[in-house]
Amino acid sequence: MRSDSHDFHAIIQVVNDALQSYLSESKIGEIKIGNQVPASNLADKLQVKKWISEGGLNSQNVREFLDPYLKHSQRMHHPHYIGHQVSVPHLASGVSDFIHGAINNPMAIYEMGPSAAVIEKAMVNWLLSKVGWLPHGDITEFSDIEGNGTGVFTHGGSMANLTALLAARAKVSPEAWNEGNDPDVIVIGSDVAHYSVERAISIMGMGKNNLWKVAVDKDERMIPDELEREIAAARSAGKKIMCVVANACATSTGLYDPIEQIALICQRHDVWFHVDGAHGASALLCPSEKHFMKGAELANSMIWDTHKMLRTTTLAAAVLFKDPNDMLGAFQQKGSYLFHDKENLGFDLMPYTIECTKAPLATKLFWVLAAEGEKGLSDFVQGRYEVTREMHDWFVDQEDFECPYYPEANILCFRYSKLDQSNAYQLNIRNNLVTKGNFYITSTEIANVRYLRMTVINPDTDVNHIKALAQEIRAIATGLVH
Ligand SMILES: Cc1ncc(COP(=O)(O)O)c(C=O)c1O
Repeated sequence: MRSDSHDFHAIIQVVNDALQSYLSESKIGEIKIGNQVPASNLADKLQVKKWISEGGLNSQNVREFLDPYLKHSQRMHHPHYIGHQVSVPHLASGVSDFIHGAINNPMAIYEMGPSAAVIEKAMVNWLLSKVGWLPHGDITEFSDIEGNGTGVFTHGGSMANLTALLAARAKVSPEAWNEGNDPDVIVIGSDVAHYSVERAISIMGMGKNNLWKVAVDKDERMIPDELEREIAAARSAGKKIMCVVANACATSTGLYDPIEQIALICQRHDVWFHVDGAHGASALLCPSEKHFMKGAELANSMIWDTHKMLRTTTLAAAVLFKDPNDMLGAFQQKGSYLFHDKENLGFDLMPYTIECTKAPLATKLFWVLAAEGEKGLSDFVQGRYEVTREMHDWFVDQEDFECPYYPEANILCFRYSKLDQSNAYQLNIRNNLVTKGNFYITSTEIANVRYLRMTVINPDTDVNHIKALAQEIRAIATGLVH
């Protein structure tokens, strides 16, 4: 296939047909969800070496590659996909990826992708408006208006956290960009902060021990009094607190830190507050769930993944700032130009991201919104949260299952508690389940106790699918003991 040939259109047709079958089989849910085989076997099945050395992929032979490729791909659209916090993508987001694949506009410089740049700015403004950081102006008002926040899209929450932490460091220690780190600068975060926070601190050369961890309660929520204690200890040790990072929500449990209490503590101590809303910020879209995010509007920065609860393909995350001046510091200390250079047409996002050549990530979200509308996305998030609560209530009614907490988001930990109380037993159940391939869930530890863990993120998953999961767990669990 040459990309400029007619065969391009033919190959797209063949791929489209294959994807339609793949998606409809997945959605019906009678097929295995995954098909795990050893990597070297898979390389043979995919004929990796042959294709690389000989080339020649075309519309006639593309299924020789595509069929085994799809056969050994995880079927996210299968209603028994209840695993990691990765969206089951809305196909509209895939259309956006397809267009990008054809036109490839790297839009960090406005003139290299004006449409994509405008969409990104509008999407950032839309997200800001949900946090309460766009008090003036509508989402297509792009001039700098006093009081409005700002932000940028990055490849995922890990990069977004890094970007926010860089901006926070610039505020407390502006010389660090040129001179290197002040050893007295520390970050305070939850004991169960996502690992990307610790990693960001190491990437920034601060050393991960400069993440001071705040004790959490039995459900792994940050304890506000412990935060107070940590801030006092840091101050009396002569440390400069770069920021406090809270979970909204925590990765393992889906439980929200007490955001408002933490925000008020940070305000009182004049400390930058960063909300890691990678997963849970989407509660802001739902009237019935947004109370979990109360107080986030008092923060200085927040991250929000769209490839988790906003149904886009990977990866797309927004890093948002209440004060646009704060974003200026992330990648240089000069701040010599304001949000965009008034002499140029449009706005260049390049100064605010790690990436130089930047993909039009927000366009994925735009397409989902354009297909579903705000209400559609809000209903989706709320529906997933509701199914999770319903499942919790069902599990606790069963004599052989237990849940350690009442869920707040669409993540639920539970364990089969009848025959064996060991951590190894739960892990064994999960591994057997995944090997069988009828369901996909994950597993985690809370306070050293291992649980099975589900994320209800597939729009088609309902309580009956999860009851079927419980039945399969019972069969596996019993078989493991006898
Ligand atoms: C709370 C939290 N923060 C950050 C991340 C990292 O996000 P990403 O996987 O998009 O890099 C995750 C991922 O699950 C998360 O749960």
